[in-house]
Amino acid sequence: MLKKIFLASDHGGYRLKELVKDFLNKQKQPIEDLGCFSLDAVDYPDYAKLLSDKLKNDLNSQGILFCGTGIGISMAANRYSHIRAALCTTAEMASKSRKHNNANVLALGGRIITDTLATDIVYEFLNTDFEAGRHSLRVNKI
Ligand code: RB5
Repeated sequence: MLKKIFLASDHGGYRLKELVKDFLNKQKQPIEDLGCFSLDAVDYPDYAKLLSDKLKNDLNSQGILFCGTGIGISMAANRYSHIRAALCTTAEMASKSRKHNNANVLALGGRIITDTLATDIVYEFLNTDFEAGRHSLRVNKI
């Protein structure tokens, strides 16, 4: 069974979250949208926390966070010790974040990347496995 993907954004990432949600729905990927649910201004740390709480109860699940740049929401998420959030602007970064860093959260900037690039990054992130081996030693030092 496909693992569940949790999605969360602030207002700056809302539009891209909705686009990625449609992309994942078309792929029949199980998702849970934790908000926000409009363009009204909200605080990105609140949404990073909502998603981090969900992943704590299901350490095999993954998350995708969105804000305007992806910076604030990834900083907030990485305050939680079970989160390894990777802010990615290329598909190569998404691939490496899985292979080398075992990232369990992808962060995207809704005002930074194009829609096509975003779906390419998401696809790469969700379809790449951790290589473990020497990378496990390093990830365990974080
Ligand atoms: C909100 O205007 C914006 O600051 C936020 O979405 C994000 O880019 C912060 O890092």
